[in-house]
Amino acid sequence: MELAGRRIVLGISGGIAAYKAAELVRLFVKAGAEVRVIMTRAAQKFITPLTLQALSQHPVATDLFELTEEASHESKIGHIELADLAELLVIAPASADLIAKLALGLADDLLTTVALASKAPLLIAPAMNVNMWNHPATRANVATLASRGALTVGPGAGELACGWVGSGRMAEPVEVAEACARALGPRDFGGLKMLVTAGPTYEPIDPVRFIGNRSSGKMGFAVARAAARRGAEVTLVAGPTALATPPGVTRVDVESARQMREAVLARAEAQAAIVMVAAVGDYRPREVASEKGKKETLGESPSLALIANPDILAELGARAWPGRRPILIGFAAETEDVERRAVEKRKKKGCDLLCANDVSEPGSGFGTDTNRVLFVGEGGVERLPLLGKDEVAERLLDRAAALMTGKKARG
Ligand code: PMT
Repeated sequence: MELAGRRIVLGISGGIAAYKAAELVRLFVKAGAEVRVIMTRAAQKFITPLTLQALSQHPVATDLFELTEEASHESKIGHIELADLAELLVIAPASADLIAKLALGLADDLLTTVALASKAPLLIAPAMNVNMWNHPATRANVATLASRGALTVGPGAGELACGWVGSGRMAEPVEVAEACARALGPRDFGGLKMLVTAGPTYEPIDPVRFIGNRSSGKMGFAVARAAARRGAEVTLVAGPTALATPPGVTRVDVESARQMREAVLARAEAQAAIVMVAAVGDYRPREVASEKGKKETLGESPSLALIANPDILAELGARAWPGRRPILIGFAAETEDVERRAVEKRKKKGCDLLCANDVSEPGSGFGTDTNRVLFVGEGGVERLPLLGKDEVAERLLDRAAALMTGKKARG
């Protein structure tokens, strides 16, 4: 883990998972990082500052107003200094309440004040009851933070301290530490151009109706966000989605498969890598009506003639490139026999790497914040566990980086 010499500010909010923060601090220190710990009032109900002080070898900051007055010389570090000192602000566990405060930009205690004042990247490791995690308010708050560039690790699924079973378990300390290493990691895509497609396509039937699919764009936006953070100059060709553009990314909005093809082909030659995450409609209506079809005319059982759309990825995979061929990465949405189909699809589409997901599995595929994928490359198949889409994006970029430098891919 490349954390040696890095300055990490760890915020701990209230929740049973606060005990995991002790192990996280131990991992940071073992890896050679300098760690400063901030605890909320609620966090101190679950674990004592003394434990964290002993492990981090620094006084633990707990109160906004005690920082400059009574504290010893060592801890006389104000909230702005703490904010400026951080190369990374990680909040683990991040409770629903704390996430809501961060999304609103509240600064009513030391941790939220430091978070607001810090320009360091923010990584949150949420931990809460499954219903709180799934609540639309929490979903919206997490999406707001993601749109500002915040990274998320976990939560995992399983038995929760509250007795419920589901998503809400804080990621294990080793996973959080790895996510920190990645967040602080080298900008290994610096100077490289990458094109990412995301979201669904809409194929018009008439001015009112269309054929679409369930893609939310989350997976593709996560890839674009991670690539930009790792230094790539990212163009995101997005089908219709309400998601906010990730920081530093150039967005091109399209609707139909043919518009997406045009947008991709016009930019393809300049790219070091093209990642096709979009769920491109395979068919479109043969005719597009210029007026809204009326029930009186269409009757009770109208039929719709379809015609195949161009296969953008297959076209990229088969074309003769005048210069260096970009690394081509495709996705595959499958509902059965995932591995065999993915192996075949990679060959058929002529891509270097194929990332397949079983979209019929709960928590995986369309619209979810998590995904279980397998990578099919030249070297074989690598299966990943159920992970947050940000995490899947990072792993995918690790594979892309290996392909670009000609390193042997894992799996
Ligand atoms: O957006 P989310 O809600 O986060 O959901 C993520 C996802 C499920 C959409 C994503 O993980 C995913 O699986 N994307 C690929 C969906 C898809 O179209 O799969 P496919 O097996 O039909 O296509 C295989 C590949 O060919 C894809 O890279 C696709 O972009 C590409 N393709 C498909 C058809 C077509 N006409 N042209 C293409 O380029």
